[in-house]
Amino acid sequence: MSDLASWSVANSRARRCKRWSLYPAEIIDLTVAEMDLPVAEPIMAAVRDAVDRQAFGYPLPGHDSELPAAAAEWLTAQGLAVQPEHVNLISDVIKGMVLGLRHFAPPHTPVVVITPTYSRFLDAVEAAQRQVIEVPMLLGENGYSLDVPEIEKALRQGARTVLLCNPSNPVGRVFNHSELAELSVLVERFGARVISDEVHSPLRYGTKFVPYASVSSAAAEHSITLTSASKAWNIPGLRCAIMVLTNPADQLTWDVLPRASKGGISPLGIEASTAAFKQGQPWLNEAIKLLDVNRLAVGDYLKRAGLGGVMCMPEATYLAWFDLREFGHPDPQRYLMENAGVATTSGDEHGVGGAGFVRVNFATPQSVLLDALERMTSALRRSPTRNSS
Ligand SMILES: Cc1ncc(COP(=O)(O)O)c(C=O)c1O
Repeated sequence: MSDLASWSVANSRARRCKRWSLYPAEIIDLTVAEMDLPVAEPIMAAVRDAVDRQAFGYPLPGHDSELPAAAAEWLTAQGLAVQPEHVNLISDVIKGMVLGLRHFAPPHTPVVVITPTYSRFLDAVEAAQRQVIEVPMLLGENGYSLDVPEIEKALRQGARTVLLCNPSNPVGRVFNHSELAELSVLVERFGARVISDEVHSPLRYGTKFVPYASVSSAAAEHSITLTSASKAWNIPGLRCAIMVLTNPADQLTWDVLPRASKGGISPLGIEASTAAFKQGQPWLNEAIKLLDVNRLAVGDYLKRAGLGGVMCMPEATYLAWFDLREFGHPDPQRYLMENAGVATTSGDEHGVGGAGFVRVNFATPQSVLLDALERMTSALRRSPTRNSS
């Protein structure tokens, strides 16, 4: 197969980054959202060139680099028609979320966090010193959906911001136009805001992606969009992300914020992200093909093991969300770590909707993934308290 498929866990360990460095060698690490894949050659070339030029000074101020124009073109191709002047550079998505909550959400108002969600959303609300109102998604036979009546209830209680993760980490949903339009009508009615984290949007398996701000002019005005090349192109350590401001008043607010509160961006991140947006699509297409093979392999494996109900097939991301509630373990993450030698991310970190679940990163070589699935399913079958209900 391709170069991408020949990447090994040993290559990933040699990166000496978080994934594959935290556990003893015998543990299969399916935790941190990083992929066991080589970085795209155009990105490597851009970073190598920057290193050769010793581009380690302060980065060019926002719009003086090529990145806002490259990002605007890429965002427009994804369905969010924006100009370079809508694109603001920040160090990382979660920093953007904290700043968004601090400066664009009405002061002192609670924040709706739709759960299960990436755990840093809850941290971001805490960092912004706001109260969280968790609204768990509904889980039906066809998977997760937004619980719009409960979001409305939270807005009635005074919440004025909704944090949206689209596509969702950890459940892999890509919310459709009608769900987002319904949310936007509700949010508009309450004069509230949406902060939409769309960092996983390039990693989809055929499902159409609808950027929240594209749903209507009201949605564009009441939302801010956060994204970056970091997840799709596997470069989170380069510290560069994007805050898209589609409301001119937000841009004025942003422009006068003290620089000290915004934090710094790495010039290497700017070079890498520009290369990703301009030249990264062929690599991404190939990566998605490999990830899709893994995604289907997880589904098949679970079905053959008689555990098909454990996972709803993700529409996006390389994260699988395993529902292990039927096995009755108080801490399934720990059970799998101790009994299968597989490290997963505990569902509990993802909010109230996460108890009894674990998140599994399937962006790993297929032989490693199959070994992990074998170990996990046999440990689960040995569960002392499997519920038959
Ligand atoms: C939904 C989501 N948002 C944000 C991040 C982190 O992005 P950053 O490192 O740019 O803050 C992640 C990382 O996994 C993520 O899954």
